[in-house]
Amino acid sequence: MRFGRSILLAAARNQTLNNFALHSAFVKRATRKFMPGEHVDDALQAGAAVARNGRGLIFTQLGEAITSADAAAQVRDHYVQLFDRIRAANLPAHVSVKPTQLGLDLSFSECERSLQTLAAKAQETGSALWLDMEDSSYVDRTLDLYEAVKRNHNSTGVALQAYLRRTPRDLARLMPLKPVIRLVKGAYDEPPRIAFERKSDTDSAYFTLASQMLDAARTGGCTPIFGTHDLELLERITDRANQSGVANNTYEIHMLYGIRDSAQSRLAAQGHIVKTLISYGAAWYRWYMRRLAERPANVLFVVKSIFA
Ligand code: FDA
Repeated sequence: MRFGRSILLAAARNQTLNNFALHSAFVKRATRKFMPGEHVDDALQAGAAVARNGRGLIFTQLGEAITSADAAAQVRDHYVQLFDRIRAANLPAHVSVKPTQLGLDLSFSECERSLQTLAAKAQETGSALWLDMEDSSYVDRTLDLYEAVKRNHNSTGVALQAYLRRTPRDLARLMPLKPVIRLVKGAYDEPPRIAFERKSDTDSAYFTLASQMLDAARTGGCTPIFGTHDLELLERITDRANQSGVANNTYEIHMLYGIRDSAQSRLAAQGHIVKTLISYGAAWYRWYMRRLAERPANVLFVVKSIFA
């Protein structure tokens, strides 16, 4: 299983495969399981249907590791317009961005400026901004960015990855800010000295971190968001919230579009705040390979779609 995951994550970094996939009709067809389309209109349209189902939304344009200042500025401008479109469509939606998509590899200060602009726009339009967490080489800088933006724009959130050995320290570092944290398991290929190798260790770290976030939430010290499709783990977390008197409108559950859709609806119907993250954009290859790596059985969907 671990071997299959590593192969898929290595393939995610392969430029030849990237070019092949982007021009291959059947691979494109297979991506429809996880994204409604490449265009922002596809995402907004799918989002309206999800919202009618009682769920909130998060939109993200795919793309990472931007290498020119112009391209990073275009991404920022795209997101500024997206906030206006979300408001015009009256959708209950937030926006999630990757710092490298806004030029973190080029300039920390420009990236911070763009994030401050987007967080201000989010606030103006009644939405919120999220910072995704990328591979471990970006964690320190992403937390620095988060601290700077959160001080000005309180509703801004950041993802923390339970598989990283350092995350308990990062959570402690952020706590004085009363952070808004989306806890995820972690999607990148990290060496064992940096991240747990065994899924059981990641799951156990996730539960411990989730419990700390819930404890802090009781006194308003943290807004916990659980970004996972692991229903058993979610049940343990929601049980723990009940036992410690944390109301279910104090935390949220976030899942990806196309994964565990009926469970998303069921949790929302039970009174949980559920948000569905919808991705769109032409630069879907690396992101898509990470989804396959999370569940190598998904490769079957790609194979089946050759014949669909
Ligand atoms: P796990 O992998 O244990 O899966 C539990 C069950 O969910 C599986 O048994 C399967 O049934 C189902 N499932 C999970 N993934 C599936 C898939 N791809 N296809 C079909 N079924 C699947 N990562 C990161 O490093 N940085 C980030 O910023 C984010 N952001 C983010 C936001 C949100 C809203 C979510 C839900 C996830 C992320 N992730 C992320 C990805 C995250 O780190 C992780 O890789 C995936 O969520 C898969 O792990 P699960 O928690 O779902 O558990």
